[in-house]
Order: sequence, then C-alpha cells, then structure tokens
Amino acid sequence: MARILITSAIPYINGIKHLGNLVGSQLPADLFARYCRARGHEVLFLCATDEHGTPAELAAAKAGKPVAEYCAEMHQVQAGIARGFGLSFDHFGRSSSPQNHRLTQHFAGKLAENGLIREVSERQVYSVADGRFLPDRYIEGTCPNCGYDKARGDQCENCTKQLDPTDLIDPRSAISGSTDLEVRETKHLYLRQSALKDDLDRWIDSKTDWPILTTSIAKKWLHDGDGLQDRGITRDLDWGIPVKKGTEDWPGMEGKVFYVWFDAPIEYIACAAEWAEAQGLDEAAWQRWWRTDKGAGDVRYVQFMGKDNVPFHTLSFPATILGSGEPWKLVDHLKSFNYLNYDGGQFSTSQGRGVFMDQALAILPADYWRWWLLSHAPESSDSEFTWENFQAAVNKDLADVLGNFVSRITKFCRSKFGETVPEGGEYGPEEVALIADLADRIRAYEGFMEGMEVRKSAQELRAIWALGNEYLQAAAPWVTVKTDPDRAAAQVRFGLNLIRLYAVLSSPFIPATSAAMLEAMRTDNASWPGDVAAALSALPPGHGFTVPEVLFAKITDEQREEWQARFAGPRG
Ligand code: 2FM
Ligand code: ZN
Repeated sequence: MARILITSAIPYINGIKHLGNLVGSQLPADLFARYCRARGHEVLFLCATDEHGTPAELAAAKAGKPVAEYCAEMHQVQAGIARGFGLSFDHFGRSSSPQNHRLTQHFAGKLAENGLIREVSERQVYSVADGRFLPDRYIEGTCPNCGYDKARGDQCENCTKQLDPTDLIDPRSAISGSTDLEVRETKHLYLRQSALKDDLDRWIDSKTDWPILTTSIAKKWLHDGDGLQDRGITRDLDWGIPVKKGTEDWPGMEGKVFYVWFDAPIEYIACAAEWAEAQGLDEAAWQRWWRTDKGAGDVRYVQFMGKDNVPFHTLSFPATILGSGEPWKLVDHLKSFNYLNYDGGQFSTSQGRGVFMDQALAILPADYWRWWLLSHAPESSDSEFTWENFQAAVNKDLADVLGNFVSRITKFCRSKFGETVPEGGEYGPEEVALIADLADRIRAYEGFMEGMEVRKSAQELRAIWALGNEYLQAAAPWVTVKTDPDRAAAQVRFGLNLIRLYAVLSSPFIPATSAAMLEAMRTDNASWPGDVAAALSALPPGHGFTVPEVLFAKITDEQREEWQARFAGPRG
C-alpha cells in the first residue's frame, strides 16, 4: 500500500466551469484517485476554488455583490456541482482560506530571508477618484487602432490589438468612469526565479519519466530568449492575500496583495491543512503529506492540469518551494491535457459557448458525461465534443454493451431460476478460457490506469465489457436451458458474477452506476480482482439479487437534435 497525494488544478471562482475545464483536470484526477483507493492505497485528493485576482473582482462587480460574499456563494455552487459529478475530493478548499493566507505569507517571508525577493519601482495608472491603482483591464478608453470606445487597457475587444493603458485615447476608470487618472510610482515584489534557474534545471532533468510535452514546455521557459524571468508576485488590488513577511508587516507594501498565481498553488498545501481542520485532526496529520521531514518522504505526489497551467507547475511553484529552503514535497508526476473543443469551435466561458457543468447534469446523470469525457480525454492532441459522437458513445458503449449485458443476464435468471444465483453445473472450458482472457485484459487495464493513460484505460474497460457480451451470445443459456439446465445454471452464475466484477472495475469511470450494480447484486464486496477466477465465484449459489432499473437509457435522435439546438447559442 502506497500513499498518494493527488491535486487537480484549482478552478477559478468566476462562474461555473464547462466540460472542457472538467476533463482537463478535475475529472481525470478523480478517475485516478478512485482507482488508487480501489487498489487499497492511502489517498489524499485535494481541489479548491481559485478566488483571488482581477477576474474574481470583476465577476463580483458584475453580480453586484461584495467580492467576499460572491466568492463564498460561488464556492458553494461549485462544490455542489462537483458532488453532482461524483468528484471524490477529500477536501474542496478555498484559496482565500486563513490557512492559505498564513502559508502564502510564510513562503514570501522565507523567500525574502533567502535573498530571493527584490523590490522594483514601476509606473502605474492611479485613479484619484477610486483611491487605487488600476490594473490594465480596469482602464477603458478609445482604441487607437480601430476607434472602438470601450477598449480595455490590456486589449481591444473589437480589433483584438494588444494594448498598453497609455495607448488608450481618453482613458477612464472602468470602476467609476472617472478620467482623473495619473501615472504614479508604485513598488512591487519580484521573485528572483532567475537565481533558481540551475536548481530548477537539475530538478527537471531528474524527471526522466515525465511526458515530453511537459518537460519541453518547462525547458523552453528555462532556456529560450533571456531564460527564466523574475516574476512580479504582488498587485495593487483590494482583494487578495495582504503582502506580509511571515507574520510581520512589509514596509512599503501596505495595501498590496500577492498576485493570484503566487498564492493559488500554495493552496494545494493549505487545502491539506483545511482538510485536517475539517476532520478535527492536528497539524501532523496534514504535514505527513507535505513535509518530507515529517513523513511525506514516501508520498507520491501527482498533479493534474490543462497544458496552459504547465509552466506555473513546473517552474513558478517549484521555484517557491525550492526557494523556501524548507523540506516541502515537490511534484513527482504531472499529468497535463490538451483542449477539448465544442462542435466546430472552442468552449468559451466568456462567450458562454458549449455545455457547462450545471447544464450537463440537468439533462443527463453524471456517469453518461464521465464516460464520454474520459473515453475522449484530450491526451495526445485536442479532441472535440459533438452531439453525434456523444450519442453514439452513450448508446453503444453504455447502453448496448454494458447496460444490455446486465439487463439480459439478470432478466433471464429471474425468469428461469428466480432472483437468486442458480445452483448446479460447473464452470467449463469456455468459462476457464474467458477467465484467462479477462485476466490479461484486467492486468493491461491496471497498467494503463497506473500510467494515467485515460483513453487507453477506457478502451480496455470497454473491451472487458464486450467480452461479457460475446460470452453470453456464444453460451446462449436461453438455448442451453432447454437441454441442459445445469449447464445453463453455471453460465448464468458466471454472468451474474461478471456483473459484480464489472461494477468493481468500472467504479473509477462510472461510480454511481457501479454502486447501482453492486446494490442490485446485493453485495458490498467491492474488492479488486487480483485473482480473477476467485472473483468470478464471489457470488455463491443461492445468493439473492434484484434486476436493476435500466442502467443507461439510449439518447434518441430527437433528444440529440433538441440539445444541439439548445446549446447552439451563447449561454443565457
Ligand atoms: O487555469 C486555472 O483555471 C487556474 N485557476 C488554475 C490554478 S492551479 C494552481 F495553481 F492552483
Ligand atoms: Zn481596436
């Protein structure tokens, strides 16, 4: 038994996530966490909401709410949807937690002590009426390129030209509309990542088992151009973690907060502390996952994220950890994903394009989505959601292959032998051969799951389900029963045991259905099939069961067309 720490990239608080976000980190992380638990490992699976930064402030302003209240509400909304999708986080934390405040300030203090922070004076736009510095996107004006009068200080939405706030004609504050703007000096803290370049280089070189996609991104940032740049880690915002050196004030930094990308990854650690507090456990309980001097030396740490997050996880966050000089755990394996597209374009939160997590759950149970998303995970390249391939996969894999198998065998048994596992007969050469095939496939499935090869795992699981159907078709107990009822009894007993086996193997992908299958088989024996022959005798003759409700309903063409039309335009 191993100890495995699993984190998913923490989703931004500003709004409900779409299916592309889900499949890029939280869902595959959940698949892996469920698998590791099923194999008997000790798992700590953490996720949280990423609550700071300008987007959170803007979303709160749009909702007409104070930002703290907005974040508290949206956290509950996201937590509810995560439960709906069966995401089995041990804790779903908040980057605005007191634990993250303390830890972020602690890391900044250590980095300063180690000479890794420098102060930089910058000139930035200050709004006299608002009494604050304005981030670029809080400044509006007329675009010098196209004349659009609501261009933002970072970019013109109309012609997409990247701008500097000083480029804007007639600039004004996006908060108050005031034109009383001045350029003032302001001081910021920079993390001297350049000084950590060699340490990072060595650390990345030691990761020989990382995918090329991951190491090449990291190496590019380390070596291209002028190499790894120092990074501003403070902002002039109201909402965020106040800049402090440990517990002490930081002279000259009054009224400033840490940059959201500085505190967000530290939340991975803080989340463990939140988890311990929520469980009524002490400090040692979470430190044994995170501090190598306190027991985390034998923890395997795996992170899941979209490809755009890779630089932050291979360079910036490790720079924070290495630079602290303290024995914190570094990531062992990092699993990153490409993008999922939606019906000929991109999923887009800002344009409300695609299917969002709450909408998905409103039309179908989570397992339909989990199966499609995981079996089409954008691993080696981007992948695309279309209603046609969603319908095809659900109807074929889930309804025809798995659902139909369960339904046929349980209904046939009920009609000929009653609702108990039938007695009589013995497993013969057909069953023995299938046990051998299953054992090969199950070992392959385990290999893919351990390697976090999501699509290949799904393919293997589908093949395992298909073996059951092929067996049933060839054995044809509805024919055998007429001439040799004992043989038919053995075939049906084998089939019923396959249902339990499938429930166990499928639980990481489709946990709710798996639970329904075990319930129908009236067993809580969910032990992993180390010995496949023994697993297929787990339900003995005389063991009662019930015929389950239809596990997966087929998606009709009418439904598909209706959803296609409903989700064609932007989210209302
Ligand atoms: O890209 C995102 O959705 C970020 N909120 C991910 C942050 S992950 C980590 F750094 F915490
Ligand atoms: Zn423009």
